[in-house]
Parts: sequence; structure tokens; C-alpha cells
Amino acid sequence: KRVGVLISGSGTNLQALTDSTQTSNIGAEIVLVMSNKDKVEGLKRAERANIPTKVIDHRNFPNREDFDKALLNELVGARVEIVCLAGFMRILTGEFTSKWKGKLINVHPALLPLCKGTHAQKQVVEAGVTVSGCTVHFVDETVDGGLIIVQEAVPVYVDGTEEMLTEKIKVAEHKAFPRALELITIRAIPELIKLLNHENQVV
Ligand code: GRF
Repeated sequence: KRVGVLISGSGTNLQALTDSTQTSNIGAEIVLVMSNKDKVEGLKRAERANIPTKVIDHRNFPNREDFDKALLNELVGARVEIVCLAGFMRILTGEFTSKWKGKLINVHPALLPLCKGTHAQKQVVEAGVTVSGCTVHFVDETVDGGLIIVQEAVPVYVDGTEEMLTEKIKVAEHKAFPRALELITIRAIPELIKLLNHENQVV
């Protein structure tokens, strides 16, 4: 499958996806990396891996719809079949997410459905729970609300900081994200596909 990855920052998850797609046969090839921010580390990672990159700055568009249309044009142009959101810090419109239903996945730094939205790690630390982790899920029109594909747990230490937890969760994400991509490319997760089909909208 031809994969497009959308990023906004350091791109450590992109790196994990690149490493796994380039070194083992998980049925996926990253053909395009797009960022809404110029000069971020993730773009350099893509260039080092010889993956074409494109910067589409959201500030150059009057609204979300036009920005998303520009993203869509590039994805279609590169014949992308699956889109991974790897630290992409823009909320996508319902029009975009419904076009990619069943083919758009995101990584979130908490065990959904708990701690949705931004600053998930801060929410976890403040809640005083002893376990958190990461979630890779299909994206739908709700924020952090789509069907869950893979979760990985990490311990939360009482004397730990938000920064320590963030780093630990990233290590978990770097395992979970490639695993989720493999599941939807090679193994096709029959029960999830069935659920999506049930909603009768999978393309
Ligand atoms: C990850 O922790 C992800 O869960 C969140 O943003 C972070 C991106 O990190 N959405 P990186 O750019 O992959 O290093």
C-alpha cells in the first residue's frame, strides 16, 4: 500500500514508520511526507530516507476546507492509499475524514477514550492514574474518537514528570504505530473492517 504521512514536528513516529516500512515487509511504502510547518526535524528525517516531502502551510489558506483540499490534492497526486497522522497538529474537516474513512490513522499519547485532545500527558499526570500509554486509531469526524486499532500501556510513576511520561509514551508509540499500519495493510483486521462495513461507508 502507498502511504502518506502528515507531520508537524520532530517526526520520531515518522522515523519509526520509515524504519519498519523500509526494513521489513509490512506491505506498506511511504511515498509522501507532508508537513504544515516548514523546516521541522521530521522533514529532514524524510529527506534522509529519500521520501518526497511537501510543505503546505495552513496559514496560507483562508479556512480549514481549503487547506484540507490542498492536502487531498497532493495525496491523490501521489496515489496515496493510506494516510498516517504522526504528530500532525491540525484538526481535519469532516469532509476530509469521511473521504479517507478506514484509511486514515492517528497516534494519540494516551489510552483512549480517556484523555482526548491536547496535553494528554498532562491530563494523565494530573489525574494521578498509574497506567497510561498510546493509542493508534482510525480517524473519524470526532476528535480522537475513531475505532481503536492498537494500544500499548506504560506505567506512570508517582514522582514522574509530564516530560518523562511523554518520552516513555513515545517509545510505546514507535512500536504501536508500525504494528497498526501492518495490521491494516497485511492482515486487514477482519473484525474492524466488518465494523466499518457495518456503517456502510468504507470505500
Ligand atoms: C506524539 O506523541 C503523538 O502522539 C502526538 O504528537 C507526538 C508527535 O511526536 N500526536 P513526533 O513528531 O512523532 O516525534
